[in-house]
Amino acid sequence: MKIGIVGSGYVGLVTGVCFTLKDHEVILVDVVKEKVDAINKGISPIYEPGLDEILKEALERNILRATTSYEEMMKEADVVFIAVPTPSKPDGSMDVRFIEAVAKQIVETLNKMEPRNLVFVMKSTVLPGTTENIFKALILAGIRDEWKGKISFTMNPEFLREGMAVEDFLNPDRVVIGADNDYGREVLVKIYRDFVDNEKILIVPIKVAELIKYASNAFLSMKISFANEIGNLAKSLGIDVYEVMEGVGMDKRIGRAFLNAGLGFGGSCFPKDVSALLNFGRSLGHEMKLLEATLEVNKKQPSKLVDLALKRYRSLEGKEVVVLGLAFKPNTDDVRESRALELIKELLEKGVAKVHAYDPKAIDNAKTVLDDERIIYHNSLESALGSADIVFIATEWQDFADESLYEGKEVFDGRKVIKGEKAKYYEGICW
Ligand code: UDX
Repeated sequence: MKIGIVGSGYVGLVTGVCFTLKDHEVILVDVVKEKVDAINKGISPIYEPGLDEILKEALERNILRATTSYEEMMKEADVVFIAVPTPSKPDGSMDVRFIEAVAKQIVETLNKMEPRNLVFVMKSTVLPGTTENIFKALILAGIRDEWKGKISFTMNPEFLREGMAVEDFLNPDRVVIGADNDYGREVLVKIYRDFVDNEKILIVPIKVAELIKYASNAFLSMKISFANEIGNLAKSLGIDVYEVMEGVGMDKRIGRAFLNAGLGFGGSCFPKDVSALLNFGRSLGHEMKLLEATLEVNKKQPSKLVDLALKRYRSLEGKEVVVLGLAFKPNTDDVRESRALELIKELLEKGVAKVHAYDPKAIDNAKTVLDDERIIYHNSLESALGSADIVFIATEWQDFADESLYEGKEVFDGRKVIKGEKAKYYEGICW
């Protein structure tokens, strides 16, 4: 099949590149010319394990290319996936301006083409109703009458984790397909049957597919905040919450995943999606208490670690500290909504004179969002650790797990990276 993908960011690129593994021809469209050129040269604009190799092979086999032209893509494509960002507005609600811009481009392009069967697939995370009431409505309102009846609209959310995206794409727990007609649904089932067994494909109405994505991310976020809430209680009782969650997670109905207590969740999805769902629910008159509490617990978590240090030193005024980890999770350079950056902000607010920060991959990105003369970014772990004796661990990079790094140090661990066997003093956030 010929598959077009609009948006060659993280989701679009991984999806498009992985489709070539089953011999589909993929044409990626992006507004950023540099990105398009890089992809065509085999240079992936993002790092994901395994992605570069598949991209290069697809280019060699001549079954993938990128372009800035909708026309070039749409004159060939049988199916068009939409994978553009849906960021948050300042009030937390979802911003649909990229979806609207794509719909406008599609209308212009369709009106230059002869009608034939075409399937649109919403891959972007969008609130229930968006695919039909905004995307589909804009397209149907703008196109020539001959096109009507030829176009199918579908929704197919992604559940890819950063750093695991290729693996998650190739071995998904489920593929959710929402469709407004048989043709669109069958085309998507045909594409995905090459990747997963039938029983993993869930067919639902479009708005159900949209809500499945939000409900999944909200539930995982809630599990983390739940572990943190119980963790804060456990800490005050002298209990290690990881021992508690081991017992809790053995119940198959609950499961152990996403019950790791610590500084909380960050990244480009969980905080944004929970806020958007909260806002959406409220706009319809629902209180959304669990989502509200999920975000509130998460927001306060970094200050819990700072409080432990305040308890020990009474004041942090004028002190120098080390912060290990800046990325929102290990094995990525992404610092979006990273709890580590919130921890640093909190430390500076409490009067810390200097923060010696280190991360194996995320320093450049952290510098662009956290530029303060009191933060010294170090190029090596040793250099950071050599600069102060009070150490905060904010991201569970494997590099930080060596106990002997902490000899003579006073460590406040936000991710249960070490046991503190060699440290002079050790305290965990929820253990
Ligand atoms: C997430 C979802 O897992 C994925 O399905 C969705 O499509 C996009 O959002 P990602 O943002 O890559 O993926 O990160 P994930 O690995 O899920 O972790 C999110 C955050 O939660 C990280 O900050 C991580 O440190 C934190 N986390 C995760 C915990 O604090 N405790 C846990 O037990 C698990």
